Amino acid sequence: LIKETALKISVLGMGYMGLPTACLLANAGYKVVGIDIDKKKIEALQKKKFETTEPGLKELFLKAVKSKNLSFSNQIQPADVFLIAVPTPAKNNQIDLKYVELATKMVSEVLQEGNLVILESTVSPNTCTQFLKKILDKKQIKYFLAHCPERAIPGRTLYEIINNDRIIGALDDQSRKMTKEIYQSFVKGKIYLTDLTTAETVKLLENSFRDINIAFANEIAKISQKIGINPWEAIKLANLHPRVNILNPGPGVGGHCIPVDPWFLAQNHPEAKFIKLAREINDSMPDYIVKILEQEFQQRKIKKPKIAVLGVAYKANVDDSRETPATKIIDKMKKRNWQIKITDPFVKKYQYPLVTLGKALKNSEAAVLITDHSVYRNFNFQKYPLKFIFDTRNILTKENLSPKTKLLTFGDSLNEDLK
Ligand SMILES: NC(=O)c1ccc[n+]([C@@H]2O[C@H](COP(=O)([O-])OP(=O)(O)OC[C@H]3O[C@@H](n4cnc5c(N)ncnc54)[C@H](O)[C@@H]3O)[C@@H](O)[C@H]2O)c1
Repeated sequence: LIKETALKISVLGMGYMGLPTACLLANAGYKVVGIDIDKKKIEALQKKKFETTEPGLKELFLKAVKSKNLSFSNQIQPADVFLIAVPTPAKNNQIDLKYVELATKMVSEVLQEGNLVILESTVSPNTCTQFLKKILDKKQIKYFLAHCPERAIPGRTLYEIINNDRIIGALDDQSRKMTKEIYQSFVKGKIYLTDLTTAETVKLLENSFRDINIAFANEIAKISQKIGINPWEAIKLANLHPRVNILNPGPGVGGHCIPVDPWFLAQNHPEAKFIKLAREINDSMPDYIVKILEQEFQQRKIKKPKIAVLGVAYKANVDDSRETPATKIIDKMKKRNWQIKITDPFVKKYQYPLVTLGKALKNSEAAVLITDHSVYRNFNFQKYPLKFIFDTRNILTKENLSPKTKLLTFGDSLNEDLK
């Protein structure tokens, strides 16, 4: 038997999930090679160039590299264990398995008798047994297989990878045992064991649950808009009921998981009405917001609006703008030929140019706050005489605004007479 600490682990995909996991494994004593098909990413990592907003990750990365337990390559390396953490995007509301397919084929090239393959990527039910296993079976050797979906959230990735409870689904008892041993080296949460397909489904249930509950909050926002009440206030009071826990409305959902994963559960199932409806409601929010903004400009007879967009990250205090509803909002405003200035304190790479907050606000007639970054909560907007700010997150107060600026949230704009 190979001693646990001598195990070699090749981690495929040096992204938001794969890199921290590789660092944790290396620090636990495994010999880890981080593999990515993105050559530039690998070159940068080899030169120890790595920027992140994740607390503790840079330090952990440097420690792992220094210990010589972590190295990087853009070529697949033979190992005892292969951990796949590559993207699983949706295409036409179906899972697109092209990255998983390529990664599995790469593993298959070097797979040896007795190796363990762990899939961390989020996948649709039966992907491990019907897709991944079929590729690996072509080798006609005995190997072990597990699925260990990732539950961490950007901004708290490291903390959550370590402390969250973990589900391991596996092909057989030996695969379960081997995988548990590996995760136990850095997971402080409880580890629960099940089969491959249940583990795949559990991950999708979690994100569909979130999506459905956010859709309910967004529906409340739309109804509140008509009634003329602040939905956050109403939700806060409703949540005082011991068995009620409604989430907060907002500009829609973003990120790599929640807008995408429910489709993996719903695809091919006409029964999945709730899940699809939630997707529809959450996807409708950007259009809904732009229509409210349009109405505000029309009321003020502003024909060519100049507007600042505050925040493009999909959630507070992170640099992740994947699937952000901000892009849909910006695109809809661009279609209307509005002059838009976009700002975000964290996001470095974005498809449209970003400016500082001051520059975005200067000469703008209005602003729309998309992301609840902490800096916006305390920012003094008083020197910018905006006509209005639409706060889609309900984080601003009138005290921080110029007296000339109207503060709008859901529920505020239509029923002034009820106030
Ligand atoms: N980011 C999150 O918060 C999060 C949370 C839970 C689950 N997940 C899931 O984890 C998986 C990975 O997500 P991520 O956010 O880390 O993705 P990411 O886009 O940050 O990184 C994926 C990396 O994989 C690389 N890659 C693609 N194909 C490859 C291959 N064949 N071999 C090696 N590298 C390859 C890409 O170049 C990229 O660097 C996805 O299935 C995602 O749904 C992500």
